[in-house]
Amino acid sequence: MRSQIKPFNGSFFHKDVVSVEQFTERREIDKLFKIARLMKRSVEGKRKRSDLQGYCIAELFYQPSTRTFTSFLSAAQRLGASYIVPLNEMTDTSVAKGESLSDTVRTLEETTAADLIVLRHPEDDAAEKAVFAAKVPIISAGSGKKEHPTQAILDLYTISESFTDLSGLEVTIVGDLKNGRTIRSLSKLLVLVCRGLTLNFVSPKGLEAPEELVAYLKDRKTTVKGFNNLREILPKTDVLYVTRIQKEWFTPEEYLKVKGSYVVDRELMKKAKKKMIVMHPLPRVDEISVDFDNDPRAAYFRQMRNGLYVRMALLALILKRQVK
Ligand code: CP
Repeated sequence: MRSQIKPFNGSFFHKDVVSVEQFTERREIDKLFKIARLMKRSVEGKRKRSDLQGYCIAELFYQPSTRTFTSFLSAAQRLGASYIVPLNEMTDTSVAKGESLSDTVRTLEETTAADLIVLRHPEDDAAEKAVFAAKVPIISAGSGKKEHPTQAILDLYTISESFTDLSGLEVTIVGDLKNGRTIRSLSKLLVLVCRGLTLNFVSPKGLEAPEELVAYLKDRKTTVKGFNNLREILPKTDVLYVTRIQKEWFTPEEYLKVKGSYVVDRELMKKAKKKMIVMHPLPRVDEISVDFDNDPRAAYFRQMRNGLYVRMALLALILKRQVK
């Protein structure tokens, strides 16, 4: 049981991953990405690793997920973790009888002897609560509207693969910036590693990025600009990060008013640079047309694959002192 979330301070060993604000310096990102590249080579070479032989990773998801859930599951298996405990908390467990998050975390630790728990939860502070209840490391797989740290890490990994020099990048984030947790984590991580970054926030009226996030970014010498019209900023954009309108946080009437506000398609993308990338944390609804999927600038499928490598790297670095 711990009383605070520790910064990485150069090492991931036995640390929780709750917020990208735990990163203190560029060196930590470089170390993580080096191991992610090692994991990529293992996967591509069809080599199963044994880093986590005898270890158990438990997954505790209180919200739906396809990418995060399956990539952590595959990551654990590919590292040789001996067993995994995938649970749907709302239907299969005593959460339905009213058991608290803290007690559920402590129960999983005892009944499975899990060495690490991956948690997704609709409440902003759920991951912190779990950390304070748990003896083992907690990785947040998304907490409320606040953070999705592993998504931001794999997003940055994807950007790093596409641009050898990250300085002076112009990143445009479009969609529901009020409710999206991925954009909070990604923009905070970008300011740590990109010198001379410009962040363009494009959203429908009423769904702008939270003021405290904009203040955080500006305090760290980032140029932040707000737009309602994507066409205005698209031609200058190096990375276009598209996000879904987060239906789950709206009433049906409110959702219909903003649904389909932005649609990226082949026609629109004629206005963009030839060398740029389009990303999306996915799932998409209608904000990127499938007619764009085969464009070389569409990076969202390899972005998902990178999630596997980055999550393998994180699991290994958290549970093992040395990863080779
Ligand atoms: N990007 C993301 O978190 O996707 P899932 O909700 O499918 O995990």
